Amino acid sequence: MEINVVSEDITKQKVSAVVVNLFEGVSNPKGATGAVDQALDGAISKLILDGETTGKKGEITLIHTLDKIVPDRVVVVGLGKQSNFTCDVVREVSAKVCRFLRSKGIQDISTIAHGAGIGGMDPSESAQAITEGALLGLYRFSKYKTDNQTIDINQLSIVESDQSKISDLTEGISTGKILSDATNFCRSMANEPANHMTPTRMSELAQDVAKDGNLEIQVFDKDSIEKFQMGAFLGVALGSDQPPKLIVMKYIGDKDNLSNSVGFVGKGITFDTGGISIKPSMNMSEMKTDMSGGAAVISAMKAIGQLKPKINVTAVVPATENMIGSSAQRPGDIVKTMSGKTIEIDNTDAEGRLILADAIYYARSLGLERIVDVATLTGAITISLGKVCTGVFGNDQFLIDQVLLAGNQSGEKMWHLPTFHEYGNQYKSDVADIKNTGGRAAGSITGAKIIEEFTDGASWVHLDIAGTARSNSLDGDKVKGSTGVTVRTLVALAINLSKI
Ligand code: BES
Ligand code: ZN
Ligand code: MN
Repeated sequence: MEINVVSEDITKQKVSAVVVNLFEGVSNPKGATGAVDQALDGAISKLILDGETTGKKGEITLIHTLDKIVPDRVVVVGLGKQSNFTCDVVREVSAKVCRFLRSKGIQDISTIAHGAGIGGMDPSESAQAITEGALLGLYRFSKYKTDNQTIDINQLSIVESDQSKISDLTEGISTGKILSDATNFCRSMANEPANHMTPTRMSELAQDVAKDGNLEIQVFDKDSIEKFQMGAFLGVALGSDQPPKLIVMKYIGDKDNLSNSVGFVGKGITFDTGGISIKPSMNMSEMKTDMSGGAAVISAMKAIGQLKPKINVTAVVPATENMIGSSAQRPGDIVKTMSGKTIEIDNTDAEGRLILADAIYYARSLGLERIVDVATLTGAITISLGKVCTGVFGNDQFLIDQVLLAGNQSGEKMWHLPTFHEYGNQYKSDVADIKNTGGRAAGSITGAKIIEEFTDGASWVHLDIAGTARSNSLDGDKVKGSTGVTVRTLVALAINLSKI
């Protein structure tokens, strides 16, 4: 889809539909909506007067213009109450309107920059949110549908008569495109079934990303992983015929100051059967998205390579299946991690923390002092937070606050949970340094704290995306399947840290 800015009159747009907006409670629309209303002899005011159009958030009113103005149709979208108006609202209504018009077979749209006029929003933020809403909301994963005859919107123009806003709008579109493309790249990685998205395939896609963005990349195979003595990572890989990969990507944005850096580590379990502690078969297919953290980290690197912040970013993705082959590890096995600490395998289904233990320690061995890991780690996080927000854990309030801020800016909801040392008592082992489970109580916290054992003094934040990585319904910019969550937050975090 082509997205651009045009400076013509909204009533003169030669398109199938123009989109204007309305705040709840407004009976006399002003600005662009007012101009369209006048040109239509008060059709919008009449709809408001009759109570058919109210401005409720997400409400869509379709009006055929019958040649009174140039565009064939006008859509009035409700922005809700002006006091609740944010970028998140713009993203949501942009997604909804685009899906609505696509369902009508419409391929070219012009829209006003919601909020950039009367709403008082920064034009670049408005344009970015419109772009993200459109590109994220229209995303479909249909490559395996053989009768795929879908029609897509191919042109979206943001109409702005005020020349002074044009360059900001253009910049917002460009940022929004980079972030949405990266998020959709993540979604497409995670939506791929596990027979296609193997650890090897993940590493190939990471190589493509590195090539396009001029990033350094190393893909370590099993021999190297053995040399690194990553016993926990290797233990998980034992049950699978698919070779494990350790993917390491580097973006150098501040080569004169290598300590200005942050590390992103992503869980790359391309399928999680649970191993010998096998999962129930109901919904097990969803475990193809257990590499969502890894996909998010690789996809964030894609955007970072394009946005070029002045900071160095390293991504580490341990990728393997958690299968149940005859060599699979067993409950009771003891593995030795790269750090030297030993772990008793209490439950082979608690595999994410095992591969992250070695990957995070590896990131530490590269000298990274700030690390954010992203993982579909625990079912328990959905019990505590549902599918609404990502769980945030960490050992450094500054980095935690930076992640929360970046999440807020990106429209990805996050909530901080505690990591009090008392929770550490729950995963003591009789036979090894620790075991890999902490019981049912506070399962997401003990999972986080087991990872924390391997952070070796670094500032660290852990994002548990087990609830947010997938969506079961259409919801604003989210569609069914992978959400691509944390891609935009990680990018915003890197940009924000680069400015400190
Ligand atoms: N990949 C799962 C977590 C998960 C569950 C993600 C549901 C998405 C949806 C993880 O590897 C896992 O199995 N965790 C166990 C940990 C337990 C054995 C301590 C869990 O949550 O049950
Ligand atoms: Zn898992
Ligand atoms: Mn598991």
